[in-house]
Amino acid sequence: MNGLAGLQGARIALAFSGGLDTSVIASWLQEEFGAEIVTVSGDLGQEKELKGITEKAYQLGAKAAYHVDLKKQFAEDFVFHALKAGALYEGVYPLATALGRPLLAKALVEIARKEECTVVAHGCTGKGNDQVRFDAGVWALAPDLRVIAPVRHWPFKSREDEIAYCAERGIPVSATKASPYSIDENLWGTSIECGVLEDPTVAPPEDAYQRTVSPEQAPNTPEEIAITFKHGIPVALNEEAIGAVDLITMLNHLAGAHGIGRLDMIENRLVGIKSREIYEAPGATLLHFAHSELERITLDKWTAHAKAKLSQDYAELVYNGLWFSPLRTAFDAFVDETQTRVNGIVVVKLYKGTMSVRSRQSPNSLYDKALASYTAEDTFDHSAGEGFSKIFSLPLRTLARTVPAVAEHELV
Ligand code: ARG
Repeated sequence: MNGLAGLQGARIALAFSGGLDTSVIASWLQEEFGAEIVTVSGDLGQEKELKGITEKAYQLGAKAAYHVDLKKQFAEDFVFHALKAGALYEGVYPLATALGRPLLAKALVEIARKEECTVVAHGCTGKGNDQVRFDAGVWALAPDLRVIAPVRHWPFKSREDEIAYCAERGIPVSATKASPYSIDENLWGTSIECGVLEDPTVAPPEDAYQRTVSPEQAPNTPEEIAITFKHGIPVALNEEAIGAVDLITMLNHLAGAHGIGRLDMIENRLVGIKSREIYEAPGATLLHFAHSELERITLDKWTAHAKAKLSQDYAELVYNGLWFSPLRTAFDAFVDETQTRVNGIVVVKLYKGTMSVRSRQSPNSLYDKALASYTAEDTFDHSAGEGFSKIFSLPLRTLARTVPAVAEHELV
């Protein structure tokens, strides 16, 4: 617990978004400690332009500035693992921000090594989940690196303080001061909090939403789309093969235009706070829905039920920043074994904020019409039902035949 002590002259790799906090950090660490700054900006598919971000870093005095394209890696090695696992935190949040952090931590470590930095820095506060995800992510890969989060220790008390600091030094903040919300965005979804959203009795105003239309504004005509999965991974849209990044981008637009994927959630943070967050995850919501519909027809009952419990643990692990852990790889091994059967096509209808399944088909389908049918085709052995049902209900019959439970004062 040494805060920022002993940073003098350190070479620091800083996770840099170009926003207010990380711009102030870049400048302040140089001014305060004579530090050398190397910025690392990761493209995780956020729609907001990252163009010009390295120029901005150099303007702030960075010694080196990296802008790395992490989209493909994010989609294939992080997002699709979570999709296969059915990972939704507290049953709702598809974990866009939580999945992005470990990958940014990995990029930070790689560049810190290359640039011979001994310290890495991020812009997280001391009360959120993201600080833990960065810290745990970096330390799981590079236990010798020092990780600092200046916002946890510095003197600025508000955005206004930071804006004043920038104004004094001619640091441009134009792009960051407009929105009353704190927004984190990537390919898998957008997380929106602060401002009026901090009051859970108030419905989110329309201007909080960045990438979806309201269901009321969505088209009056429904749209049907077909998603093909291979081993649990979506590989084609309307029967045309498509790569991970393009598919998710396209589905964000398609489903977002139908008002799908808006989530309003009170969640339990790792640090114990309950917080209210608005999420927009049109592509993620649609893909989780289609994937789970395919699992309904391809997974046997016991595997499906066991996997549902694991989904919850998987989501919690990701939320808590334990991506680079042996538990996650063990979970993935289980999930991948289940996904060998998850092949086929699901057709989903999108209409005014709702999704409904139109059809599901799979070469590995376990649905047996001859067993399920109530027609003459039926092959199920009805007479075996008598013995099955009799044995199944044995505990209840046994209970009913014994003396009923009595209140304590009636006991002798
Ligand atoms: N609550 C989400 C999480 O813990 C998002 C955190 C970042 N949110 C934001 N609006 N900047 O993953």
